[in-house]
Amino acid sequence: MAELQLKSLVKTYGNGFKAVHGIDLDVKEGEFMVLVGPSGCAKSTTLRMIAGLETITGGEVRIGDRVVNDLVPGKRGIAMVFQNYALYPHMKVRRNLGFGLQLRRTPKDQIEAATNEVSGVLEIEELLDRLPKQLSGGQAQRVALGRALIKQPEVFLFDEPLSNLDAKLRASMRVRITDLHQRLRQEGRPATVVYVTHDQVEAMTMGDRICVMKDGYIMQVADPETLYERPANAFVAGFIGMPEMNLFPAVLTREGNIPCLTADGQTIKVTDGLSHRITTGDGPVTFGIRPQQLHVVAPGTDGAFTATISHIEFMGHEINLHVRLGDAQLVAVVPTDSFDTHFARGDRVGLRPSGSHVHLFDAETGENVSLGQGSN
Ligand SMILES: Nc1ncnc2c1ncn2[C@@H]1O[C@H](COP(=O)(O)OP(=O)(O)O)[C@@H](O)[C@H]1O
Ligand SMILES: [Mg+2]
Repeated sequence: MAELQLKSLVKTYGNGFKAVHGIDLDVKEGEFMVLVGPSGCAKSTTLRMIAGLETITGGEVRIGDRVVNDLVPGKRGIAMVFQNYALYPHMKVRRNLGFGLQLRRTPKDQIEAATNEVSGVLEIEELLDRLPKQLSGGQAQRVALGRALIKQPEVFLFDEPLSNLDAKLRASMRVRITDLHQRLRQEGRPATVVYVTHDQVEAMTMGDRICVMKDGYIMQVADPETLYERPANAFVAGFIGMPEMNLFPAVLTREGNIPCLTADGQTIKVTDGLSHRITTGDGPVTFGIRPQQLHVVAPGTDGAFTATISHIEFMGHEINLHVRLGDAQLVAVVPTDSFDTHFARGDRVGLRPSGSHVHLFDAETGENVSLGQGSN
């Protein structure tokens, strides 16, 4: 297993479109790194450059201590798992699994032993004599995984491998893949993984670290907790977390040392948990608060904005209260059992952001200006 490094990696397609803008990323040996971002942000382009399926316009891909830019895919020590499984349709599962080793002229008895081991791990023994067309989506994906695993590559590359599965199967495959990764780690043969997805839940639940991308740039690389608690910018803040973080324009002023924030012509004081973190002067900002940290109180309560309920979503254990604050549409999550008040559309409610969970972002650059001095 090996470390993987991207250095100033650039991709410009033949039509002149620059898809990747000089990105740097270090994936440690044995690390599970997730690349996540909206469709079109160049996750696949990046992965395909690592795999050798796409030419590199500029910069370097290093696997272990080798620059692999000019190596064909087969010589890079990687194995890739695709969204559409890409199994050989005319070969039975057994041959699909062993084919990579066969190409390397591995002796037959070794191929058989490896096939047995991998099919045991993935619980696909009973599928070995079927053709790909005789498999369900989940089974086909397990075979695709087995085909990668059997090669014992230095780096595993996954491109949205679970996108074609239904929600339930996706959840169980998520666990299966992370369990497998941990098991290899415990057995002393840790697998370096780069896993591409557009799904932030997959990213958060599977990644040791997550690389958030947008428009061919890296927005932040961090562990799941840091991404959630300390997003580097408004894009990451809005992308990670459900429902999405509320982001709306506000103006920051100070009364003594106390930060005051004005939105929709209303000014609230945020008395605790914020002032010592702010690294910007007075002026326009983007106010960020997660729906779970926006507390519904009586209108007129200190530290609360007054807003109007526009829509109510009953989720079972909680209610998503959609409210309008001037031009901004916000969401507050209210635990069903903690609140016996009956809400109705058009009601006025107070919304008190929890000070220690308020984020402020630069109104122009989107950079988080509430992470404190000398942090990160
Ligand atoms: N062969 C190509 N020629 C030109 N542009 C491409 C090509 N392939 C992908 N792109 C563009 O590059 C960007 C990144 O694409 P892709 O890496 O597939 O994104 P993602 O996997 O994050 O959805 C998109 O804007 C896409 O339209
Ligand atoms: Mg893609």
